[in-house]
Amino acid sequence: MSKNNPIGFVDSGVGGLTVVKAAQDQLPHEQFIFIGDTARMPYGPRPVQEVIDYTFQMAQFLLTAKHIKLLVIACNTATARALPQLQAQLPIPVIGVIVPGATAAAATTGNQKIGVIATQGTVTSGAYQDEIQAVNADVTIFQQAEPDFVQLAEANLAQAATTKDIVAQHLAPLTAQGIDTLVLGCTHFPLLAEAITAAVGPNVKLVDPGRETVRVIIDTLDQQALHTAVPHQHADDIFYTTKEPATFKAIATDWLARDTALDVRHLAIVGEGATQHLEEK
Ligand code: DGL
Repeated sequence: MSKNNPIGFVDSGVGGLTVVKAAQDQLPHEQFIFIGDTARMPYGPRPVQEVIDYTFQMAQFLLTAKHIKLLVIACNTATARALPQLQAQLPIPVIGVIVPGATAAAATTGNQKIGVIATQGTVTSGAYQDEIQAVNADVTIFQQAEPDFVQLAEANLAQAATTKDIVAQHLAPLTAQGIDTLVLGCTHFPLLAEAITAAVGPNVKLVDPGRETVRVIIDTLDQQALHTAVPHQHADDIFYTTKEPATFKAIATDWLARDTALDVRHLAIVGEGATQHLEEK
């Protein structure tokens, strides 16, 4: 494994692109390989072991077929469910999004009231609660599962006329708690940032854990001397989806706003049970 090898990013779908975008801006010379497991999204309601298995399958493809030097779990649900196992079993550094998000949230709040919107899996895991209170035990945390927001982002409806109303309705009970900080605890949610900002108003600060994670990626590359010595272009990044690529490609092209066409490819889910794995065909 060479330091000139790519960095891998995985998510259940398009959400992880929000982490990729932030990382592309700050690491212009690295090559990224992304997998959105769109055929099996949402991960939020899935049993813990299933999330662990699917995340391992993505990691395995990136390691064996793409020889990645570092893996970013660009998914809060997979971070909450699978990070310790991946860190223990993979031969490369593995970075999750929850600790960076929790640390930023604890540093942001003034009134010690933080809202967390996430998937059901992330909320049930209690990961944000634990990590925020590890920094500041006096913070009160109001968590809310927002599976509908994942579907809105995945269906490319961020700009749809009805989205603003739906988001406002969902977030009203949370803002009524008097929070001054809101953690976008699912990587799909920054795609809806406009509607979320409109719903919570200017006095609530949004924390995007994916964006905060880029600092950790850079620190890890620094500490382990893993910065590439060969300057890559982000035009060489590769984006895999396990579903048909059309909608994924439309969202990715729009969100990443590149001049060059994105290299979006299909990744097949092959086999059943313990033998299930991902293959480029
Ligand atoms: N983007 C994911 C997250 O950050 C998961 C969305 C889903 O598949 O439920 O949690």
